[in-house]
Amino acid sequence: MSHIPVLLQPILEYLSPADRVIDGTLGAGGHTRALLDAGIAEVLSLDIDSMALEIARANLQAYAGRVHIVHASYWDMVEQAHRLGWSQVDGILLDVGVSSMQLDHPERGFAFMQDGPLDMRFNPDAGILSAADLVNTSEEDDLANIFYKYGEEPQGRKLARGILASRPYETTRQLAGVIEKITPRRKGDKIHPATRVFQALRIAVNDELGGLERVLPQAINLLKPGGRLAVISFHSLEDRIVKQAFKLASTDCICPPNVPVCVCGHKASVQLLTRKPIIADEIEIAHNPRSRSAKLRVVEKLAV
Ligand SMILES: C[S@@+](CC[C@H](N)C(=O)[O-])C[C@H]1O[C@@H](n2cnc3c(N)ncnc32)[C@H](O)[C@@H]1O
Repeated sequence: MSHIPVLLQPILEYLSPADRVIDGTLGAGGHTRALLDAGIAEVLSLDIDSMALEIARANLQAYAGRVHIVHASYWDMVEQAHRLGWSQVDGILLDVGVSSMQLDHPERGFAFMQDGPLDMRFNPDAGILSAADLVNTSEEDDLANIFYKYGEEPQGRKLARGILASRPYETTRQLAGVIEKITPRRKGDKIHPATRVFQALRIAVNDELGGLERVLPQAINLLKPGGRLAVISFHSLEDRIVKQAFKLASTDCICPPNVPVCVCGHKASVQLLTRKPIIADEIEIAHNPRSRSAKLRVVEKLAV
């Protein structure tokens, strides 16, 4: 299955027309291509996954000169923009998380329905621990915390204990099999018992939530007045980070309510364009089931 860009219509409505846009999560290049087709003059597109970059480069050959494809994290978007001589941009897109292309390659270790090495690193060259390293070396408490915090897994403690008892792990199916034994699938369960643990490990391995928290203020800084930041997220933990960061950036005073006169001096730098997140309609969900959990929030930079 190739990756179909989610919420494409609203993304194009919010981010075009424009001269310079950053796509911080290039993936297979679906959003970048659509932005270029919509007339955006130049797009700087980043991804930390070499496999994604290779596929995107092939997909975007026809746009040479208008698209700048760079192997870099969206955490480094300011530096990458400056390298092109861009001190400010008109728009930024982040479509965070894993792509269906990555899930479709069992050798990347993201999928539990097919067997592959238990890896899950978006960038295997980044010198970070793989999911197998994490599972094989963590203390029970740390694993349980990862499962609670990043997977919202109510049985995190039980799973951590059971998983530790069968170490070491090398492959995705090996881990998924142990999880199925510890928490067997019950009638009526909507998701596979390994879903939350796999999500939690992926988030921990790639520091996805920390990275998202760090990038949002930087991205807002990089926008010109009137420029827009659009973020698509896929689960409640990510969406909460985006919602809170946008709320903070769009609020003037952030003093506690019992302070009679503002002492913080905080000034809103953006205006919220989406009071509620934009979600996919039924037609999009029927065409691309992955869009079911997507949420889009957008802010616009104020002239201050
Ligand atoms: C949901 S996909 C994006 C799909 C893309 N919008 C498209 O239309 O094909 C998310 C992408 O973000 C990449 N990614 C994850 N963390 C990243 C980071 N810190 N910096 C840059 N890219 C990242 C992943 O490798 C993956 O290719």
